[in-house]
Amino acid sequence: MSTIAQTVLTISGITGLLALLLSVANKTIANYGEKKITINSEKDLLVDGGDTLLSALVDQKIFIPSACGGKGSCGYCKVTVLEGGGEILPTELGYVTPDERQQGVRLSCQLKVREDLKIQIPEELFSVKQFDYHVEFLKDVTPTIKHLRLSLPDNEEITFKAGQYIQILAPKYKESDEEVYRAYSIASSPLDTKAIELYIGYVKEGKATTYVHNYLKEGQKITVVGPYGDFYYQEGDRDMVMVAIGTGMAPIMSILKYMHSKQINRNVTFYFGARTREDLFEMETLDGLMKDMPNLKVITCLSKPTESCNWDGEQGRVTDMLKKFLDTATQKEAYLCGSPVMIDSVIPILKEKGMPEERIYYDKFE
Ligand SMILES: Cc1cc2nc3c(=O)[nH]c(=O)nc-3n(C[C@H](O)[C@H](O)[C@H](O)COP(=O)(O)OP(=O)(O)OC[C@H]3O[C@@H](n4cnc5c(N)ncnc54)[C@H](O)[C@@H]3O)c2cc1C
Ligand code: FES
Repeated sequence: MSTIAQTVLTISGITGLLALLLSVANKTIANYGEKKITINSEKDLLVDGGDTLLSALVDQKIFIPSACGGKGSCGYCKVTVLEGGGEILPTELGYVTPDERQQGVRLSCQLKVREDLKIQIPEELFSVKQFDYHVEFLKDVTPTIKHLRLSLPDNEEITFKAGQYIQILAPKYKESDEEVYRAYSIASSPLDTKAIELYIGYVKEGKATTYVHNYLKEGQKITVVGPYGDFYYQEGDRDMVMVAIGTGMAPIMSILKYMHSKQINRNVTFYFGARTREDLFEMETLDGLMKDMPNLKVITCLSKPTESCNWDGEQGRVTDMLKKFLDTATQKEAYLCGSPVMIDSVIPILKEKGMPEERIYYDKFE
């Protein structure tokens, strides 16, 4: 045997032994035993210690939102820890404000259950459920966005508010060696309790979107958890300003469809932005809604129209449209959806036009 081959074999042997030792150590040294998690002073759960709080709760069918799938990069999985849990970790600091820190707010995906914990979570999370949908249809609405309709078995239904989101579970597949949960806003009306529709944009090398765009097929099963979110339609009679770009259209469509079915005729101006004509979608659906909803106005703008777009409509970003068309906003409320950059640039314009901050509702797709 050559010296190179012998060296390779020795290194592989040492690596294998180390991996074995680590795995044994994990099962013995890092065995924290059974721990108790007391939720909202009323519910006691017994869990195996050592896992993250997020996973321990999921195992008990309590689904805390986790838009980044536990990577510590979305800040959605906050829970208030009243007792136990140790010091806040450096990975949590960017997402927990000093006020929240005082109250014991932690990221449940970072905190490991190594002792008994007393925690507080919003009551509505107890009604979040896991569903097995099947893909009724999945079609391209633009070169980068797919429209999905997922339906439930006959004996099941989902209850949600127009504007809320669910999380889908993308399983392991050829290009991804881990299961991931990702958040997607529901685009259909909550009055349709047997199915949900989604618009999912492709993100290069994105785990969930590559799965949906390149692997998921009509007729297949897909696991969905939800509903989640405090972005939803607010009852009332104020004029509404809606702003979305790209797939941000989803929760706005849910709200518009809900208003349409309920024959709610509030004044709505929907500013919808895309780059080029081929990035526009659901224009016919919006036209149909406008026919039945005389107080709905849609302002569509393209930020990068090319000559082949043959576009004689509004040009520019949604922010330009708001500056141009929105008059005083003191009595109005706003619903914003899409990239964090878009939302962060729209909010100051709305405030300049007099809209109070507490009436600006938004979901950042981050
Ligand atoms: C409340 C909420 C609702 C959402 N609703 C929708 C929706 O209705 N439709 C929809 O398409 N998405 C929506 N998203 C975004 C979605 O949850 C995922 O973040 C997105 O689809 C990317 O997931 P991924 O697993 O494919 O990418 P990942 O594997 O998470 O990311 C791969 C890489 O791409 C980067 N990346 C992630 N997202 C983007 C992006 N949008 N643009 C550029 N780079 C990116 C990441 O930083 C990473 O480097 C929503 C997010 C939130 C928080
Ligand atoms: S799940 Fe995203 S930060 Fe915890």
